Amino acid sequence: MKMTTQFFSLTLILALFSCNAAKNPRLTDNFNEGWRFHLGDTLKPQSPDFNDLSWRALNLPHDWSVEGAFDEKNPASVGGGALPGGIGWYRKTFILDKNIYQGKDIFIDFDGVYCNSEVWINDHYLGKRPNGYISFRYELTKYLKLGEKNVIAVKVDNSHQPNSRWYSGSGIYRNVWLVATSPAHFAQWGVSVTTPEVNDQKAKISTQFQVVVPESVKSKVTIVAKLYDFEGKEVARNNDISLKDNGYISSLELVAPHLWTIADPYLYKLVSQLFVDNELVDQVTTNLGVRYFNFDTTKGFSLNGKPLKIVGVCDHHDLGCLGSAVNKRAIERQLELLKGMGINGIRTSHNPPAPEMLDLCDKMGIIVMDEAFDMWERKKSTFDYSQDFKKWHMRDLSDQILRDRNHPSVMIWSVGNEIWEQGDDSLHRGATIMKDLCAIVRKLDTSRPIVTANNSPTPGNQLIECGATDLIGINYHIKEWLSFPKIYPNKKLIVTESTSALQTRGWYHMPSDSIARVPKAWDKPYNTPHHNCSAYDNCSAPWGSTHEETWKVVKKNTYISGMFIWTGFDYLGEPTPYGWPSRSSYFGIIDLAGFPKDVYYMYQSECTTQPVLHIFPHWNWTLGQTIDIWAYYNNADEVELFLNGKSLGKQHKTGDQLHVMWKVPFEAGTLRAVSYKQGKQVLTTEVKTAGAPAKIRLTADHRKINADGSDLSFVTIDILDKDGNLVPDAENLVQFKLEGPGKIIGVDNGSPMSMESFKADHRKAFHGKCLCVIQSKKKVGIIRLNANSAGLSESSVNIVCK
Ligand code: GAL
Repeated sequence: MKMTTQFFSLTLILALFSCNAAKNPRLTDNFNEGWRFHLGDTLKPQSPDFNDLSWRALNLPHDWSVEGAFDEKNPASVGGGALPGGIGWYRKTFILDKNIYQGKDIFIDFDGVYCNSEVWINDHYLGKRPNGYISFRYELTKYLKLGEKNVIAVKVDNSHQPNSRWYSGSGIYRNVWLVATSPAHFAQWGVSVTTPEVNDQKAKISTQFQVVVPESVKSKVTIVAKLYDFEGKEVARNNDISLKDNGYISSLELVAPHLWTIADPYLYKLVSQLFVDNELVDQVTTNLGVRYFNFDTTKGFSLNGKPLKIVGVCDHHDLGCLGSAVNKRAIERQLELLKGMGINGIRTSHNPPAPEMLDLCDKMGIIVMDEAFDMWERKKSTFDYSQDFKKWHMRDLSDQILRDRNHPSVMIWSVGNEIWEQGDDSLHRGATIMKDLCAIVRKLDTSRPIVTANNSPTPGNQLIECGATDLIGINYHIKEWLSFPKIYPNKKLIVTESTSALQTRGWYHMPSDSIARVPKAWDKPYNTPHHNCSAYDNCSAPWGSTHEETWKVVKKNTYISGMFIWTGFDYLGEPTPYGWPSRSSYFGIIDLAGFPKDVYYMYQSECTTQPVLHIFPHWNWTLGQTIDIWAYYNNADEVELFLNGKSLGKQHKTGDQLHVMWKVPFEAGTLRAVSYKQGKQVLTTEVKTAGAPAKIRLTADHRKINADGSDLSFVTIDILDKDGNLVPDAENLVQFKLEGPGKIIGVDNGSPMSMESFKADHRKAFHGKCLCVIQSKKKVGIIRLNANSAGLSESSVNIVCK
């Protein structure tokens, strides 16, 4: 019988009913395990008879590029991370139990495959998806043989390079799911929930369902939607509304809603149930955050009626030494580090993120600008998505909105970054596409503003002038932020991308108060023998500004809703201002290994209530050399600096200053800073001259991890002198040995030019530090990581897998 798809809307009727937890007939199984992989093209591996025993056995998510060697000649180029691309094949043989799957509709869901994936089930071609960042589904039902062997084969083609301005990774790098439903079920992303009216007293909650229902049972379908609070208590339920009531809308209220905020990201759960003849046939659970927000032309952004400056970062999707292979804990660690410095926003530059990222932002209270494209029809690199834009943009953008529109964290849709169609042309192609994209978004969601990130903010930009977007997004052009109210009266401004400051963790160039803009222009070469950028916040790209320059302007001007700093983390690729052998970026506030650079503490001192006193640089210099000592601090009136017990005077910030500074002639010993409020000591911190490397310190961020085969512990390795001081220039090679139910899945040190493999069991330290990432196996026990290095006393750490 023919399936039909129906839409209908309803609004929750609020009443307190208790819930009888029923077993969900929908099965959603992680499908990551037991794949085989072959790097390279080969003849007909989609055929079920193909012998793949010589192929490598692995579990997804998987990124083959990050396993490769850096090479200047790799076609991705240094901009793409200088790692290999190519073609890869994945196969999985599986049997589905007849007793469980008989009569079900069965689907495979890919969260993301980079790129040009083609999928076969039992030699039947299911289709191709060029976009490497989009989530997609195929239905398998009629090609499956229950109780017998089935083979799914996936070809991934990332051979046409360059196709990205940053590191993309290659492979099935996000999660894969096998979903089985009753023939009558909610469509993929078929539950939509919005909170069109919210205030502190009450909330209106609207839900909309798209269902797939066989004609024969159409008249017998009912839907129930139940709302649970965080503790699991049912707080609202709709009436049973049958499909005949198609289009029925009612206005209902949630009294005294617990609002979703940055500090308290409270989540309700919406459980949507589909019944046929009063029998539960499908159930979908959706997190719901009740909040309202506004962008104002003069007052900027507000959340739940309270002004809030968006202090966000742009980040690409790679996870450092894990490459692009998604791992929820690795994303969570990134977000924890960012939250710790006071960041409240993320821009998913320049593509749809992993679903786990949005779940975490919902849970952690982070505002998301969810971005779709880095180019439209005009290309930025030879083989990029511009080739597919015409054919695919509607499908890709629609799928992104459908997938992401329930996330309370998502508050802005960006439909493009620095799109080349900004400039005017006689056909106004840019304006036409702009309106088309906005229409696609608004058909599916009208609850969030749409923006494009413009690097041409001057009048004449047709994306702005066509008036289709809700906000005006400007990348860089700090001067134009100031003239914005004049140039665009009554328009709303968000700085979609800012800063592009450049820093190497632990490397300092003096005088610290002279600012370098490198390279001279974006297309001009730049080189130094050391390939470093100064970590004093005195270096930026010429189109950008230092962190302090940027923050001062954003902080002061209320009409600027906020900014997204380029970038939170260093990422693979785009090593501006350098070329080879640099292969990863210098833009991050946090390096590729996850170690904060000093400017992290500037934001922490400004954007959190946590007491901060951070002095830098290190204290290992040449006798008599004059060193600029900076201090970031808050919650205090002044800071006093002492060298070997002798006061070098007190300093305090004046005007819009964000740090204080002393010029100190070097003499070995101890630099000590003390902050005071009304004469009373608040905090004190010290930096000591370190001696020769003598020992290793291991610090695991998690000493207990889940024995689920996925959880991680990030172990920081510090090279210390005999007295326990970090040796700031240590480069000792550290060898790891691991025992117990875990494995090393990545090593790094944050150096943008290291040619060492991320997949080794050893790593050189960089400015005294390196990182070893440990993943659990599906086995309880104790993992013991041992680290040794020639001439140093060795060290180990235990991690419990439970
Ligand atoms: C911007 C661009 C980003 C990144 C950045 C580096 O113009 O949007 O993707 O390339 O420059 O500064």
